[in-house]
Amino acid sequence: DMYKIAVIPGDGIGKEVMEATLHVLESSNVDFEYSFADAGDEYAEKTGIPLSEETVNLVKQSQACLFGAAGETAADVIVKLRKELDLYVNLRPVKSYPGTKYLFEGLDFVIVRENTEGLYSGLEEYTQDGATATRVITKAASERICKFAFEYAEKTARSKVTAVHKANVLKKTDGVFKDSFYKVAENFSHIETDDRYVDATAMFFITQPQMFDVVVTTNLYGDILSDEGAGLVGGLGLIPSANIGETNGLFEPVHGSAPDIAGKGLANPSAMILSAVLMLEYLDEYDEARRLENALLKVLDEGKVVTKDLGGESSTMEMAEEVRSKLEAL
Ligand code: NAI
Ligand code: MG
Repeated sequence: DMYKIAVIPGDGIGKEVMEATLHVLESSNVDFEYSFADAGDEYAEKTGIPLSEETVNLVKQSQACLFGAAGETAADVIVKLRKELDLYVNLRPVKSYPGTKYLFEGLDFVIVRENTEGLYSGLEEYTQDGATATRVITKAASERICKFAFEYAEKTARSKVTAVHKANVLKKTDGVFKDSFYKVAENFSHIETDDRYVDATAMFFITQPQMFDVVVTTNLYGDILSDEGAGLVGGLGLIPSANIGETNGLFEPVHGSAPDIAGKGLANPSAMILSAVLMLEYLDEYDEARRLENALLKVLDEGKVVTKDLGGESSTMEMAEEVRSKLEAL
């Protein structure tokens, strides 16, 4: 298969980790046809806007998009792409890789966050006394995110999906979410289900994170728990994310353009490489996703050819070269 991929390197280390990742992907057994586009701060300096309509259309016409990082304009760029492409899923793995600084060994779960409504619906207004935000939870959006979570569990051979909510206090909004979860669960009777309160979940992430497999939740809870999950496995240079819709997916590291280290070859390419792993999963190329992840795992575990943030002395491209040679040997 030949996949059409839009590539937006962006600003700062976004360009460096993208170059590194595309270099590794050259040794993949899957073929990609790339279309490159600029977006972000540098693009805005030249044109006055951080993201053009042509680029939005290019991403729409592609099967998936690899995004590096933008600088100050990141929110505009990503928010616009999420809206235009209706990327309703935000997916973040929490995995502890040998050779890296994690808090628990053997962690391997994913957080599936609803990305379009909830408390981030954009309905905020001042009142006489202060301000009010409206939290919108619809059955349609709740069912679609829960369905995604179950299907993802099925495809990636995971056995349990946990809904996270606070339906004891937010009886109506989180009640709709919880009911939607159990309605969808009926179609996946072979997958174990449970549900937990968000406050208790925040505690269990720290005390017993091994209990989680797939966690599905609403927008704000997912935002907070995702960063808590990142803290469990440590290091911005290691954490990928996926934004997924019905017809498109955008894959990006969680880190930004890191102006403090940009242009020096110091950036850890792992988060971008792992974003490509998520893209391969999205394209249903599971064998290839595991191969790429395992190649990176070997390099991290050996710890010899790694970047400074991982305790090594290698450059971004040296580390990428090492991942590529491991990939070729697998
Ligand atoms: P940042 O993630 O760029 O950097 C935070 C710290 O982590 C820095 O010390 C940086 O050197 C380090 N770091 C990040 N990624 C690394 C990697 N791959 N390897 C080694 N070290 C790494 O976040 P910061 O400093 O808050 O923001 C810098 C710029 O990035 C801002 O303009 C911000 O708006 C933008 N940003 C963009 C995002 C995006 O494009 N999705 C996300 C977050 C921030
Ligand atoms: Mg966040």
